[in-house]
Amino acid sequence: MSRIDALLRAMTLTEKLGQLNLVTANQAITGPSTNAAIDTSIRAGEVGGVFNLWGREAVSATQRLAIEESRLRIPLLFGLDVLHGHRTIFPAPLAETGAFDPDLWTRTARAAAQEAAEDGVSLTFAPMLDVCRDPRWGRLIEGPGEDPHVASIFAQAKVKGFQGWDLRHPGAVAATVKHFCAGGAATAGRDYAAADVSARQLREIYLPPFRAAVMAGCAAIMPAFNSIDGLPMTAHIALLRDYLRNELGFDGVVLSDYTAIQELIEHGVAADRVEAAALALNAGVDMDMVSDAYLENLPDALARGLVKQEQIDAAVRRVLALKEKLGLFDEPFRIATVDAHNPEAAHNLARDSARRSITLLTNHNMLPIGENMRRIAVIGPLADAHMEMLGSWSAAGRAENSVTILEGLKAALPMHDIVHTEGVSLAWDDDRGVAEACELARSADLVVLCLGEAAYMSGEAACRATPDLPGAQQQLAEAVIATETPCVIALTCGRPLMIGDLAERAGALIATWFLGDMAGHAIADVLTGAFNPCARLPITWPRATGQIPIFYAQRSSGRPPDETNPFTSKYLDTPVTPLFPFGHGLSYGAAALENLRLDKEIFFADEKISVAIDVICSGKYARRETIFFFLRDPVASVARPVMELKHWRQIDLAPGDRKTISLTLGVEDFVFPGVDLKPTAEPGAFDLLVGFSAAPEGLLRASLRRAMRPNTA
Ligand code: BGC
Repeated sequence: MSRIDALLRAMTLTEKLGQLNLVTANQAITGPSTNAAIDTSIRAGEVGGVFNLWGREAVSATQRLAIEESRLRIPLLFGLDVLHGHRTIFPAPLAETGAFDPDLWTRTARAAAQEAAEDGVSLTFAPMLDVCRDPRWGRLIEGPGEDPHVASIFAQAKVKGFQGWDLRHPGAVAATVKHFCAGGAATAGRDYAAADVSARQLREIYLPPFRAAVMAGCAAIMPAFNSIDGLPMTAHIALLRDYLRNELGFDGVVLSDYTAIQELIEHGVAADRVEAAALALNAGVDMDMVSDAYLENLPDALARGLVKQEQIDAAVRRVLALKEKLGLFDEPFRIATVDAHNPEAAHNLARDSARRSITLLTNHNMLPIGENMRRIAVIGPLADAHMEMLGSWSAAGRAENSVTILEGLKAALPMHDIVHTEGVSLAWDDDRGVAEACELARSADLVVLCLGEAAYMSGEAACRATPDLPGAQQQLAEAVIATETPCVIALTCGRPLMIGDLAERAGALIATWFLGDMAGHAIADVLTGAFNPCARLPITWPRATGQIPIFYAQRSSGRPPDETNPFTSKYLDTPVTPLFPFGHGLSYGAAALENLRLDKEIFFADEKISVAIDVICSGKYARRETIFFFLRDPVASVARPVMELKHWRQIDLAPGDRKTISLTLGVEDFVFPGVDLKPTAEPGAFDLLVGFSAAPEGLLRASLRRAMRPNTA
């Protein structure tokens, strides 16, 4: 008999429900209530996993309670939100997505897993895979941006990074992909609010990243807080059971979000906790995070006939299977056996990933910082703000380990005269320091103006109806620019911010997002030209809040925007175009694309088609270029988006290089959910559009035609 069968036989109902119970310790507060008195419950076999607890000693002591003092000695899972680093903090996920480098995405997850595992963590609540097109939503920063293809590749890379090839490896942690699904489509960008998305949007936009994660072998999935079409995800049978379990064959653990089972009452689908627990279990939620509803209320649900014993057993089996896959039964203190960790490698990776995550948005011949700019005024509330460099969900990261922009510039330019003032605070509407800041600006050759958001302004519970520069920062920027000292603005932010006309008026604008520990060094590397910026936007940057949601893969309409015709799809007061399109990002020097070619124009449905394009690096800087390949299906049985990203490629170029990029299009690139939502690939004409971003004016186009093979029978 297997270990799991034997345990199931031996367990009481309470012990079974205990395995489904995921409780929080209080080392971090990630929700509205905490459960401090867990030791007694662990001894009684009433706990399957603990989260928000880390550190060798704390974890070992708690594991010992389960292993030595509970009746069946079943080891605990230890969970934590390790989203972008554990002790070493890497760039926030949205920032890192901009690096468009799956290998980097894997490497930072690997390093984070290693550090977390050293601290006893066996389960991370990451990666977050919410496709999001709404900068008001605070959690945008936790995920991979607006595009489902990017999110799918991100999903695979992160799962691979966290889990490695074998969860038994002591440096691996089980990945929980979240929030399944459409969390990023919450009404009006408001956390926890309902999402009303169509079945087509689910298939096209919100499900693919989770599918990719399941295919990559993710160990766990967390349903979103939101409802979809009136059905809270924690009780969503069609998506949790029919889609995840039956269609995708997911056999890992589904664990609820924080008190999400209890919240089924507030959602309005359960009258009491007994009903709430039954609804969640019936939908296929295995573990209950913090609600205590499984432990306390499933016995009643069983007695009332709302759930069956087999359902409880199946959930317990999945939790025990995860513990077995992690090797916890054989090595409950797996932390003791982690390989020697190399902090220097983590630092280097943190600096490199941070540099690759900085987006140069505009550069009016100002950067890199010139030789003649000897006196530099570093102004703004984010110039010397250790804590803010880390961003939200910074796990075991420490503010004092982070390098600020001021510190980074001083280290990079030791012979320069670098002066600093805050000017204004991060969020208070108080402009008293503006005059002094302007005086300092006037005394300098260059201003580096460090503006944006505090770390707490993005992440969970950090939605903003007006995602602009908080407090008096806009005033500060306008006054400093008016001094006419050359000025580069660095935006520390968790979302595209509405910044008025600063993009045109500042000499240069960079988005630094939340870059983690090495922020200051990375920003200095980019500003000084020691590193040629290469990140590209994983999300469309609107001009105005009223344009939201805005994204490149819109559908056409019967009346696409037309400058000359008022009765077309646009605004009276704002252009329809974004401030910066998806994929936008500059590097120093220049590059061009030429000679897009296909090996055939007409091809049969089952044939592959080879694509090639030349990339040229002009100017004096070596650069890393990202080339995006979109397909457009102008006539289909269902109107398709104006274009969809199918591939991207990165290439390193030296000055004067001309290199060819080639790839192959296969049938999977032409598949979309048909009229019946089943995958279909139709014959007909397509456009392949290739460019450095989704900006229509920069795209090279090639036509192709997909034909059905003549029936030779
Ligand atoms: C968040 C999850 C997180 C959980 C545990 C919740 O409030 O929505 O993303 O994993 O807390 O910290």
